[in-house]
Amino acid sequence: MLLIFFLISGEFISNTDAQLMDCLESDRGALLDFKTGLEDPKSRLSSWKGSNCCQWWGISCDKAGAVSTVDLHNLGGEIRPSLTKLRSLKHLDLSFNTFKVIPDWLVNISSLVTVDLSNSGLHGRIPLGFSELPNLQFLSLRRNSDLTASCPQLFSGRWEKINVLDLASNNLHGKLPSSIGNMTSLTYLDLSDNNVEGGIPSSIGKLCDLKFLCISGNNLTGALPDFLEGTQSCHSWSPLPSLQYLDLSNNQLVGKLPEWLGQVKSLAELDLSYNLLYGPIPASLGSLKNLTGLALGGNRLNGTLPYSLGQLSELSYFDVSFKQLTGVVNETHFLKQYKLRFLKLFSNSLMLNVSSNWVPPFQAGSIRMGSCHLGPSFPTWLRTQKEVNFLDFSNAGISDFVPYWFWDEISSNLTFLNVSFNQLKGHLPSPLNISPSADVDLSFNLFEGPIPLPIVGAAGGGVLDLSNNKLSGPIPQNISSSLPNLGFLCLSTNQIIGEIPASFGSMEFLQVIDLSSNKLLGNIPASIGNCSFLKVLDLSNNNLSGNIPAYLGKLRFLQTLHLGGNKLSGRIPSSLKNLSSLETLDLGNNRLIGRLPQWIGKEGLENLRILSLRSNSFSGELPSMLSNLSSLQVLDLAENLFNGCIPASFRDFKAMTPVSFLW
Ligand SMILES: *[C@@H]1O[C@H](CO)[C@@H](O)[C@H](O)[C@H]1NC(C)=O
Ligand SMILES: *[C@@H]1O[C@H](CO)[C@@H](O)[C@H](O)[C@H]1NC(C)=O
Ligand SMILES: *[C@@H]1O[C@H](CO)[C@@H](O)[C@H](O)[C@H]1NC(C)=O
Ligand SMILES: *[C@@H]1O[C@H](CO)[C@@H](O)[C@H](O)[C@H]1NC(C)=O
Ligand SMILES: *[C@@H]1O[C@H](CO)[C@@H](O)[C@H](O)[C@H]1NC(C)=O
Ligand SMILES: *[C@@H]1O[C@H](CO)[C@@H](O)[C@H](O)[C@H]1NC(C)=O
Ligand SMILES: *[C@@H]1O[C@H](CO)[C@@H](O)[C@H](O)[C@H]1NC(C)=O
Ligand SMILES: *[C@@H]1O[C@H](CO)[C@@H](O)[C@H](O)[C@H]1NC(C)=O
Ligand SMILES: *[C@@H]1O[C@H](CO)[C@@H](O)[C@H](O)[C@H]1NC(C)=O
Ligand SMILES: *[C@@H]1O[C@H](CO)[C@@H](O)[C@H](O)[C@H]1NC(C)=O
Ligand SMILES: *[C@@H]1O[C@H](CO)[C@@H](O)[C@H](O)[C@H]1NC(C)=O
Ligand SMILES: *[C@@H]1O[C@H](CO)[C@@H](O)[C@H](O)[C@H]1NC(C)=O
Repeated sequence: MLLIFFLISGEFISNTDAQLMDCLESDRGALLDFKTGLEDPKSRLSSWKGSNCCQWWGISCDKAGAVSTVDLHNLGGEIRPSLTKLRSLKHLDLSFNTFKVIPDWLVNISSLVTVDLSNSGLHGRIPLGFSELPNLQFLSLRRNSDLTASCPQLFSGRWEKINVLDLASNNLHGKLPSSIGNMTSLTYLDLSDNNVEGGIPSSIGKLCDLKFLCISGNNLTGALPDFLEGTQSCHSWSPLPSLQYLDLSNNQLVGKLPEWLGQVKSLAELDLSYNLLYGPIPASLGSLKNLTGLALGGNRLNGTLPYSLGQLSELSYFDVSFKQLTGVVNETHFLKQYKLRFLKLFSNSLMLNVSSNWVPPFQAGSIRMGSCHLGPSFPTWLRTQKEVNFLDFSNAGISDFVPYWFWDEISSNLTFLNVSFNQLKGHLPSPLNISPSADVDLSFNLFEGPIPLPIVGAAGGGVLDLSNNKLSGPIPQNISSSLPNLGFLCLSTNQIIGEIPASFGSMEFLQVIDLSSNKLLGNIPASIGNCSFLKVLDLSNNNLSGNIPAYLGKLRFLQTLHLGGNKLSGRIPSSLKNLSSLETLDLGNNRLIGRLPQWIGKEGLENLRILSLRSNSFSGELPSMLSNLSSLQVLDLAENLFNGCIPASFRDFKAMTPVSFLW
């Protein structure tokens, strides 16, 4: 059966067929020796027995029965040199393992065509000999633990047939030498997230077949070269005639965006974000018909947005955020952007001037236009965007009621909504029709009426910021059942009345509670001490009375406690000495009494930077221990009933500047 099959398939024997061959005895021996170095906790190598090693897990052979492929994952241990005995090994894939040192003898296996050692826990120097392997076409050492190489050395080698080179997320350093332009078979080069520095050699323009170039997250400096060397060697009118993907983001590149970018017609993705580029966006970019992603955010580009960008009919990702763009944006800018999904225009001074019945050609999922001028009316075109889930219209000059259709048709799919810093008015619907785990920021508007609650959510950790509005009425008693997993709650600076619901204690993921500057009454519920992840508790400037609950001493992670400007009475509970993360303690403007406790300086509070106890009725002598607060920068004890002298030790506050004493 085996023999017949072999005869029929003849020359065209496939890999699977070849596994029916018996493997070379010498290769079998080499593999068994290789296995002795491996750690195999999940017994993945249990099939490695019997005479035919071509049938073992991860092994394939050529038609002569010689091992041609070794493809093993989820192992640990050592890569033993017995691999060098596999004379016909072409494809070595040891990615996703937990090995240690990169073996330098790998480069002795001259038959190798592809080598994938990505994500395999390797460290050490990348053997320069890889560049001399005569048949090597594919090398990935992506994301290991601290593989190092000096770029001038590594790229001065021959790299005769190298086609794909992926060295991302390692520790390459030094400058890219101009000899990189000799690697003329390259189609794919990824050096992202290394420590490459210096300029980009213009010889890269000689890589006529280069499709993918990513050097993001390095320390490249200088301007984008014109790659003119390339136009000659590639017999092309434009530089980099095959380039489809160019990512040089997160470097320190300077200068203007070159006009030639608009000539690289094959470009599908262009990411130059987070550099130091300045000047205008060239209108020529609008002729890149295949462009699907354009990311220029986080530079210093200025001027207006070219109308030609509206011709980019394949564009799906459009990011020109964090710039100094000015001028008007109208329908023409989006004319043919049928496929736009991500629109990031935020942090610019652009002014949107579209007609009130504009129907954008796209259905965007993410619309981020914070700080662009969109008002004064609420943008009606948003009603056409049925798939939007991320919406930032903050600081956009909108001075209007939120239309009913926003809550009926748009908001329920949102996982992020930021309309802060506008002049939005009217009542908010309750329940707020929004995705359960959404981050919602409606702060700094003119909303009025009762506090709305989003619908009950399972997921969480989210943000609800309703601060600086004109909301009134009490905090709903059932806020905890509506928002059991909320992480950040800010209701500051409204006109909220009534008591703080005890149910806060069951919102166990809260990290920030800010109810400051309202008209809250009654006691601080002890149950807040059950919010065990709380970092910030701000109840200042209300009308709270009663004692400071000792239970608050349970908040191990609390960094900021503002209770100032209330009518709290009694003594400072000694349990507060357990707040070892505390940096700010503000109890000023209350009716607290008693001596300043000794423990404030003695135990636990070494991170305290700000201590304000002003305008209370504290009495007795100042404890000299206070000066042990080695991080203290601001101490405000004014307007109390202290007597005696200022302890001599107060000269010793380590972090204080002379002006920080406020009496
Ligand atoms: C690899 O080649 C070098 C030089 O040719 C030689 O010294 C070394 O012993 C070889 N290593 C292995 C494991 O074959
Ligand atoms: C490689 O590039 C360098 C600098 O660009 C050049 O001087 C050298 O002749 C090239 N070597 C080969 C073998 O092409
Ligand atoms: C980048 O290079 C500059 C100048 O050579 C240096 O000051 C800076 O520390 C480098 N940054 C990183 C992240 O390596
Ligand atoms: C644009 O993309 C299409 C389809 O992928 C392709 O056929 C065409 O060659 C590309 N244009 C250029 C200039 O690369
Ligand atoms: C862009 O910024 C440069 C200086 O960085 C300035 O000279 C130029 O006038 C600005 N252009 C526009 C259109 O604002
Ligand atoms: C957008 O503004 C430009 C320049 O003012 C104008 O030529 C164009 O007609 C405008 N587009 C629309 C759709 O109004
Ligand atoms: C806004 O567009 C309208 C109609 O196209 C035009 O009349 C008006 O001048 C534009 N406003 C600004 C500030 O560009
Ligand atoms: C929510 O988004 C889905 C697609 O992502 C869409 O089918 C659905 O109509 C949207 N719902 C609303 C209320 O917009
Ligand atoms: C909303 O936008 C404002 C202004 O752009 C910003 O300060 C705030 O952090 C944003 N809120 C959230 C939750 O991201
Ligand atoms: C919260 O209470 C209000 C009024 O008592 C009620 O309408 C609402 O359904 C409650 N929400 C939850 C989540 O229990
Ligand atoms: C804190 O939570 C525990 C367990 O749920 C509960 O028994 C206790 O009463 C709560 N403490 C306060 C002060 O609410
Ligand atoms: C504060 O609460 C007291 C009752 O405890 C009340 O008489 C007073 O009017 C309240 N003040 C404010 C500003 O709400």
